[in-house]
Amino acid sequence: MFGDHAERYTSFAESSGPNAHYERPATLRLAGEVAGKQVLELGSAGGGLTEQLAAAGAEVLGLDHDPRLVEIARKRLGARARFEIADLNEPLSMVPSASADLVVASLVLHYVADWGPLLAELRRCLKPGGALVFSIHHPITGWLRSDRADYHRVELISEDWDWDGVTVTGRMYRRPVSAVFTSLLEAGFAIEAVEEPQPAPGVEDPELDRILRTTPVFLYVRAVR
Ligand SMILES: C[S@@+](CC[C@H](N)C(=O)[O-])C[C@H]1O[C@@H](n2cnc3c(N)ncnc32)[C@H](O)[C@@H]1O
Repeated sequence: MFGDHAERYTSFAESSGPNAHYERPATLRLAGEVAGKQVLELGSAGGGLTEQLAAAGAEVLGLDHDPRLVEIARKRLGARARFEIADLNEPLSMVPSASADLVVASLVLHYVADWGPLLAELRRCLKPGGALVFSIHHPITGWLRSDRADYHRVELISEDWDWDGVTVTGRMYRRPVSAVFTSLLEAGFAIEAVEEPQPAPGVEDPELDRILRTTPVFLYVRAVR
Protein backbone atom coordinates (compact mmCIF):
# COMPACT_ATOMS: atom_id res chain seq x y z
CA MET A 1 0.00 0.00 0.00
CA PHE A 2 2.83 2.45 0.82
CA GLY A 3 4.73 1.34 -2.29
CA ASP A 4 1.67 1.90 -4.54
CA HIS A 5 2.00 5.58 -3.61
CA ALA A 6 5.76 5.61 -3.07
CA GLU A 7 6.56 9.14 -4.28
CA ARG A 8 3.42 10.67 -2.83
CA TYR A 9 3.84 8.99 0.56
CA THR A 10 7.51 9.95 0.75
CA SER A 11 6.83 13.63 0.16
CA PHE A 12 3.74 13.58 2.41
CA ALA A 13 5.63 11.92 5.31
CA GLU A 14 8.42 14.47 4.95
CA SER A 15 6.37 17.31 6.42
CA SER A 16 3.08 15.86 7.71
CA GLY A 17 2.23 16.82 11.29
CA PRO A 18 2.08 13.26 12.69
CA ASN A 19 5.37 12.20 11.02
CA ALA A 20 7.53 15.31 11.14
CA HIS A 21 6.36 16.95 14.37
CA TYR A 22 5.18 14.03 16.49
CA GLU A 23 6.56 10.61 15.50
CA ARG A 24 10.13 11.39 14.42
CA PRO A 25 11.03 13.79 17.26
CA ALA A 26 9.81 11.29 19.89
CA THR A 27 11.49 8.31 18.22
CA LEU A 28 14.81 10.17 17.85
CA ARG A 29 14.69 11.28 21.48
CA LEU A 30 14.09 7.69 22.66
CA ALA A 31 16.90 6.47 20.37
CA GLY A 32 19.32 8.74 22.28
CA GLU A 33 22.89 9.33 21.11
CA VAL A 34 23.38 7.47 17.81
CA ALA A 35 26.73 8.84 16.61
CA GLY A 36 28.98 5.97 15.55
CA LYS A 37 26.29 3.38 16.32
CA GLN A 38 25.17 0.56 14.05
CA VAL A 39 21.45 1.17 13.59
CA LEU A 40 19.02 -1.27 12.00
CA GLU A 41 15.93 0.61 10.82
CA LEU A 42 12.78 -1.40 10.09
CA GLY A 43 10.23 -0.05 7.62
CA SER A 44 12.63 2.62 6.38
CA ALA A 45 10.19 3.69 3.60
CA GLY A 46 11.58 6.62 1.58
CA GLY A 47 14.35 7.28 4.11
CA GLY A 48 12.80 10.21 6.02
CA LEU A 49 13.90 8.99 9.44
CA THR A 50 17.08 7.47 7.98
CA GLU A 51 18.13 10.93 6.84
CA GLN A 52 17.96 12.22 10.42
CA LEU A 53 19.69 9.18 11.92
CA ALA A 54 22.50 9.44 9.36
CA ALA A 55 22.82 13.20 9.97
CA ALA A 56 23.27 12.41 13.67
CA GLY A 57 26.19 10.12 12.81
CA ALA A 58 24.54 6.67 12.80
CA GLU A 59 25.58 3.89 10.41
CA VAL A 60 22.13 2.82 9.20
CA LEU A 61 20.94 -0.32 7.47
CA GLY A 62 17.32 0.28 6.45
CA LEU A 63 14.95 -2.59 5.66
CA ASP A 64 11.64 -2.32 3.83
CA HIS A 65 9.64 -4.88 1.88
CA ASP A 66 8.71 -2.48 -0.90
CA PRO A 67 11.31 -2.22 -3.68
CA ARG A 68 9.95 1.13 -4.90
CA LEU A 69 10.50 2.73 -1.49
CA VAL A 70 13.92 1.10 -1.12
CA GLU A 71 14.86 2.62 -4.49
CA ILE A 72 13.73 6.09 -3.39
CA ALA A 73 15.66 5.76 -0.12
CA ARG A 74 18.83 4.57 -1.93
CA LYS A 75 18.71 7.53 -4.34
CA ARG A 76 18.07 9.94 -1.51
CA LEU A 77 20.76 8.79 0.91
CA GLY A 78 23.41 7.62 -1.58
CA ALA A 79 26.47 6.37 0.33
CA ARG A 80 25.18 7.76 3.65
CA ALA A 81 23.11 4.64 4.46
CA ARG A 82 22.46 1.12 3.15
CA PHE A 83 19.03 -0.26 2.28
CA GLU A 84 17.86 -3.80 1.64
CA ILE A 85 14.51 -5.27 0.61
CA ALA A 86 13.28 -7.46 3.47
CA ASP A 87 9.97 -8.74 4.77
CA LEU A 88 9.74 -8.51 8.56
CA ASN A 89 7.66 -11.71 8.56
CA GLU A 90 10.75 -13.62 7.36
CA PRO A 91 14.19 -14.23 8.92
CA LEU A 92 16.46 -11.19 8.49
CA SER A 93 19.25 -13.26 6.97
CA MET A 94 21.06 -10.16 5.62
CA VAL A 95 21.71 -8.94 9.19
CA PRO A 96 24.60 -10.62 11.05
CA SER A 97 24.02 -11.74 14.65
CA ALA A 98 24.95 -9.26 17.40
CA SER A 99 25.70 -6.54 14.82
CA ALA A 100 23.28 -3.75 15.81
CA ASP A 101 23.57 -1.31 18.71
CA LEU A 102 20.05 -0.09 18.08
CA VAL A 103 16.94 -1.23 16.20
CA VAL A 104 14.48 1.53 15.28
CA ALA A 105 11.02 0.51 14.10
CA SER A 106 9.01 3.63 13.39
CA LEU A 107 5.31 2.96 12.67
CA VAL A 108 5.88 -0.46 11.15
CA LEU A 109 5.35 -3.19 13.77
CA HIS A 110 1.56 -2.86 13.52
CA TYR A 111 1.84 -4.31 10.00
CA VAL A 112 3.25 -7.56 11.42
CA ALA A 113 0.65 -10.06 12.69
CA ASP A 114 2.91 -12.30 14.77
CA TRP A 115 5.61 -10.46 16.72
CA GLY A 116 7.20 -13.60 18.22
CA PRO A 117 9.48 -14.63 15.31
CA LEU A 118 10.39 -10.99 14.51
CA LEU A 119 11.32 -10.12 18.11
CA ALA A 120 13.45 -13.30 18.29
CA GLU A 121 15.22 -12.12 15.12
CA LEU A 122 15.75 -8.62 16.54
CA ARG A 123 17.20 -10.12 19.71
CA ARG A 124 19.60 -12.12 17.53
CA CYS A 125 20.59 -9.02 15.52
CA LEU A 126 21.19 -6.80 18.58
CA LYS A 127 24.40 -6.70 20.58
CA PRO A 128 23.92 -7.51 24.29
CA GLY A 129 22.62 -4.34 25.92
CA GLY A 130 21.40 -3.04 22.56
CA ALA A 131 18.06 -1.25 22.38
CA LEU A 132 14.86 -1.59 20.40
CA VAL A 133 12.95 1.68 19.97
CA PHE A 134 9.59 1.58 18.26
CA SER A 135 6.36 3.47 17.72
CA ILE A 136 3.01 1.90 16.88
CA HIS A 137 -0.54 3.11 16.40
CA HIS A 138 -1.90 3.43 19.91
CA PRO A 139 -3.87 0.34 21.09
CA ILE A 140 -6.68 2.52 22.47
CA THR A 141 -7.25 4.24 19.13
CA GLY A 142 -7.07 0.85 17.42
CA TRP A 143 -9.74 -0.47 19.77
CA LEU A 144 -12.02 2.49 19.03
CA ARG A 145 -11.62 1.78 15.28
CA SER A 146 -12.34 -1.96 15.67
CA ASP A 147 -15.71 -3.68 15.83
CA ARG A 148 -15.07 -3.97 19.61
CA ALA A 149 -16.12 -7.64 19.59
CA ASP A 150 -13.11 -8.90 21.58
CA TYR A 151 -10.43 -6.60 23.04
CA HIS A 152 -8.10 -9.53 23.80
CA ARG A 153 -7.51 -10.74 20.25
CA VAL A 154 -4.98 -9.41 17.76
CA GLU A 155 -7.18 -8.02 15.02
CA LEU A 156 -6.82 -6.58 11.52
CA ILE A 157 -8.40 -3.13 11.34
CA SER A 158 -8.37 -0.42 8.69
CA GLU A 159 -8.05 3.33 8.61
CA ASP A 160 -8.40 5.95 5.86
CA TRP A 161 -5.65 8.52 5.38
CA ASP A 162 -5.48 11.64 3.26
CA TRP A 163 -2.07 11.84 1.60
CA ASP A 164 -2.00 15.27 -0.05
CA GLY A 165 -5.52 14.92 -1.48
CA VAL A 166 -5.56 11.17 -2.18
CA THR A 167 -7.46 8.87 0.19
CA VAL A 168 -5.57 5.70 1.03
CA THR A 169 -6.88 2.84 3.15
CA GLY A 170 -4.30 1.26 5.44
CA ARG A 171 -4.75 -2.10 7.18
CA MET A 172 -2.89 -2.82 10.39
CA TYR A 173 -2.99 -5.14 13.40
CA ARG A 174 -4.47 -3.82 16.61
CA ARG A 175 -3.26 -5.67 19.69
CA PRO A 176 -4.15 -5.38 23.36
CA VAL A 177 -1.73 -3.42 25.54
CA SER A 178 -0.71 -6.58 27.41
CA ALA A 179 0.22 -8.31 24.11
CA VAL A 180 2.63 -5.48 23.24
CA PHE A 181 4.57 -5.83 26.48
CA THR A 182 4.23 -9.60 27.02
CA SER A 183 5.70 -10.20 23.55
CA LEU A 184 8.72 -8.06 24.44
CA LEU A 185 9.25 -9.71 27.83
CA GLU A 186 8.88 -13.21 26.37
CA ALA A 187 11.47 -12.38 23.71
CA GLY A 188 13.99 -11.40 26.39
CA PHE A 189 13.68 -7.61 26.33
CA ALA A 190 13.51 -5.36 29.39
CA ILE A 191 11.19 -2.36 29.05
CA GLU A 192 13.11 0.89 29.61
CA ALA A 193 10.58 3.53 28.60
CA VAL A 194 6.95 3.84 27.57
CA GLU A 195 5.86 7.22 26.24
CA GLU A 196 2.75 9.02 25.03
CA PRO A 197 4.40 12.38 24.30
CA GLN A 198 3.05 15.72 23.19
CA PRO A 199 3.82 16.81 19.61
CA ALA A 200 6.78 19.08 18.97
CA PRO A 201 6.01 22.67 17.90
CA GLY A 202 5.30 23.20 14.21
CA VAL A 203 2.04 21.34 13.49
CA GLU A 204 0.43 23.82 11.10
CA ASP A 205 -3.21 22.62 11.24
CA PRO A 206 -4.70 23.71 14.62
CA GLU A 207 -7.23 20.85 14.60
CA LEU A 208 -4.52 18.26 13.98
CA ASP A 209 -2.42 19.87 16.71
CA ARG A 210 -5.38 19.56 19.10
CA ILE A 211 -5.86 15.88 18.19
CA LEU A 212 -2.16 15.10 18.70
CA ARG A 213 -2.20 16.88 22.07
CA THR A 214 -5.39 15.34 23.42
CA THR A 215 -5.85 11.83 21.99
CA PRO A 216 -3.75 8.62 22.13
CA VAL A 217 -2.38 8.58 18.56
CA PHE A 218 0.90 6.61 18.83
CA LEU A 219 2.60 4.60 21.58
CA TYR A 220 6.42 4.72 21.92
CA VAL A 221 8.57 2.07 23.62
CA ARG A 222 12.28 1.63 24.34
CA ALA A 223 13.27 -1.93 25.29
CA VAL A 224 16.73 -3.38 25.93
CA ARG A 225 18.13 -6.78 24.99
C1 LIG B 1 4.53 4.28 8.06
S1 LIG B 1 5.84 3.72 7.06
C2 LIG B 1 7.28 4.06 8.03
C3 LIG B 1 7.67 5.50 7.98
C4 LIG B 1 9.15 5.75 8.12
N1 LIG B 1 9.62 5.28 9.39
C5 LIG B 1 9.48 7.23 7.92
O1 LIG B 1 9.91 7.89 8.87
O2 LIG B 1 9.31 7.72 6.80
C6 LIG B 1 5.75 1.96 7.18
C7 LIG B 1 6.76 1.26 6.28
O3 LIG B 1 6.78 -0.12 6.66
C8 LIG B 1 6.91 -0.90 5.49
N2 LIG B 1 6.40 -2.25 5.80
C9 LIG B 1 5.13 -2.62 6.07
N3 LIG B 1 5.06 -3.95 6.29
C10 LIG B 1 6.33 -4.43 6.18
C11 LIG B 1 6.90 -5.73 6.27
N4 LIG B 1 6.16 -6.80 6.55
N5 LIG B 1 8.22 -5.87 6.08
C12 LIG B 1 8.99 -4.77 5.79
N6 LIG B 1 8.51 -3.51 5.68
C13 LIG B 1 7.19 -3.35 5.87
C14 LIG B 1 6.10 -0.17 4.43
O4 LIG B 1 6.50 -0.51 3.13
C15 LIG B 1 6.40 1.29 4.80
O5 LIG B 1 7.50 1.76 4.07
